[in-house]
Amino acid sequence: MLRRPRRNRKNDVIRAQHRETNIHTDHLIYPLFVVDGNQERSEVKSLPGQFRLPLNDLLKEVESCMELGVRCFDLFPAVDESLKDADATYSYHDDNFYLHYIRALKERFPEAVVMTDVAMDPYSSDGHDGVVKDGKILNDPTLEVLGKMSVAQAQAGADIIGPSDMMDGRVEHIRMVLDDAGFSDVSIMSYTAKYASAYYGPFRDALDSAPKFGDKKTYQMDPANQGEALLEAEIDYAEGADYLMVKPALCYLDVIHLLKENFPVPIAAYNVSGEYAMLKAAAANGWIDYEWAMREMLLSIKRAGADVILTYFAKEFAQMQKDGRL
Ligand code: PBG
Repeated sequence: MLRRPRRNRKNDVIRAQHRETNIHTDHLIYPLFVVDGNQERSEVKSLPGQFRLPLNDLLKEVESCMELGVRCFDLFPAVDESLKDADATYSYHDDNFYLHYIRALKERFPEAVVMTDVAMDPYSSDGHDGVVKDGKILNDPTLEVLGKMSVAQAQAGADIIGPSDMMDGRVEHIRMVLDDAGFSDVSIMSYTAKYASAYYGPFRDALDSAPKFGDKKTYQMDPANQGEALLEAEIDYAEGADYLMVKPALCYLDVIHLLKENFPVPIAAYNVSGEYAMLKAAAANGWIDYEWAMREMLLSIKRAGADVILTYFAKEFAQMQKDGRL
């Protein structure tokens, strides 16, 4: 036998020599949930190991992540029901605790990169990502709200704005209002191909942000479609998005690959809450090797073409890597 591929797998040194895909903590963004300061830190039931953090706990968490080499954080606010309204006005209100936390975080750790979420759902009494009228999600009036939210977050010190709403034209609108307000350095990571997915369930538990009626299928994409992702990507690219994101990650590796092959900007993938929860649940039952499976998941996302991965595994992965348990 002249060709024996197994020779190139015979020990770890040789395997490592030609390993095509490696994950570094620089490639990871850690999503963190935050709550108003008068509340205690609480664990999200469907996301074991993930907490809603008041400010002090947030700062502690960021500090320990930074020591492990995780330096980019995506913050999501869990907003009290009494502050929600139809137009999500709390999202850009001066007293908004989320904006205050961004400011405090950047003050304490100027070298940390803060990504923020731009969408109405955590602040909306309807639980939708857009303004609702007669049971419909209105596109253009929503852009106004997203613009105000983006500017407020940029003023607070956000480095990257993450519009996660899937309204048409929002990247261009946000780019324009940011530039007009003097924030031409603030980046936009657009949720470009965001699918209407069952895998967001635990996230909606974390923020208590599930839609109060209907679903999100008139704005989030149909899981059956790949071509539409190209259209969304062309639009976001033309509108000035600095990164294009695919979400969720695991069921959409083909879409990650497609965008990577076709667009000369960094591609991000969101390894979402349901993907994390499935692995945690299987591991808690002793049905799967947790760390091995986690690494395999992250590798598959990277191998498909993601440059950066938003993942709830970020800190644990960094710890595993530091301890040499990979
Ligand atoms: C909504 C938003 C969602 C997530 C991030 N931003 C859920 C949704 O569209 O309902 C999901 C993230 C996750 O599941 O980890 N703007």
